[in-house]
Amino acid sequence: MGKIKTIFKDDLGAVNRCLRSYSSVYMVYDSNVAALTGEISKHVRASLPITVSERMKTVEEAVKIDRWLLEQNADRKALVLAVGGGVTIDLAGFAASIYKKGIAWACVPTSLLAQVNAAVTGRTGVNLGAEKDILGSLQKPDFAFICPKALETLPSRDYKAGVAELLKTFIISDDAAYEMTLNALHSNYQDTLAELVTTAAEFNAKMAGHGSEEKSVLNLGGIFCDAIESFQLSNAVAEPLSHGEALAVGLVMTARLSESRGYAREGLGDKIARDLEAIGLPTVPPCAEEDIQDIIIRRKKAEGGRLNVVLIEKIGKVKLTRI
Ligand SMILES: NC(=O)c1ccc[n+]([C@@H]2O[C@H](COP(=O)([O-])OP(=O)(O)OC[C@H]3O[C@@H](n4cnc5c(N)ncnc54)[C@H](O)[C@@H]3O)[C@@H](O)[C@H]2O)c1
Repeated sequence: MGKIKTIFKDDLGAVNRCLRSYSSVYMVYDSNVAALTGEISKHVRASLPITVSERMKTVEEAVKIDRWLLEQNADRKALVLAVGGGVTIDLAGFAASIYKKGIAWACVPTSLLAQVNAAVTGRTGVNLGAEKDILGSLQKPDFAFICPKALETLPSRDYKAGVAELLKTFIISDDAAYEMTLNALHSNYQDTLAELVTTAAEFNAKMAGHGSEEKSVLNLGGIFCDAIESFQLSNAVAEPLSHGEALAVGLVMTARLSESRGYAREGLGDKIARDLEAIGLPTVPPCAEEDIQDIIIRRKKAEGGRLNVVLIEKIGKVKLTRI
């Protein structure tokens, strides 16, 4: 696939320079970030605000975007610009990847989670019923434009959810950066945090360009996170955990599994749980553990009786294994 092109700039308006070479640009944006779009709409031919939630990350919503593109007479040389968090990026990126057999897309991630991960993986996914990201594509964006200013209006709960993704990246790759993130958060060192976001996004973008075996470590915590989200979708839970929050729980569950399988030293799960709780992230499942296990066992059967799981040896070192 090749590395995803990431552009890091402090000035949101600089995205206009990245857009001027496209014959036409169609912007799909999260209505919660409408205030940001004025700065980046110089080369935009038409804009579509969308209301986002995990529940509406569906193929039907993606088709609505495609219908709108068709009404706008968007041709095969058009670019779809997704401006928003992971849901907007997944939806608009997926819609672009199936419109006229695939047109170009790019994104301006406005949530921390999307800056660190969803914008730079080169994958897009939408849910099918309660199944998370079961439909998707591997058409990478032309670029991901990452600007710290885009996070200024992000609600605190959504910011914390993004921290789970940031810490996950460093559990995979860099123990010093993991501790640095915790320190920077507790001391509110915004410049350091912005640098750590850049490091994490670059790491994820680079990994996304690797072969499937190598990049599968990026799925750390994903097995539990997906099961929690599927449970919430199928049970129409009124106040579900967000993706980042479910990931936080998934990281702790993975650390505990790593301990019980003898991959990690005793105490790793407790340490990660303490670190996440200090940030204000959940660390216990929002449902019975058996419900999560049932979903995982079903997945395992569907995969022929073995599942790939990423376990943690220690912070900064993970291992892909099959259970
Ligand atoms: N494609 C991938 O590789 C990939 C990777 C990780 C996660 N994801 C997906 O990403 C989604 C989670 O992403 P998310 O946490 O960004 O969710 P999201 O897009 O729902 O955003 C979270 C909330 O923050 C709001 N928001 C976003 N930016 C804002 C801003 N600057 N100001 C004010 N409000 C803002 C949104 O309106 C929403 O209410 C999940 O669906 C997950 O499956 C995809």
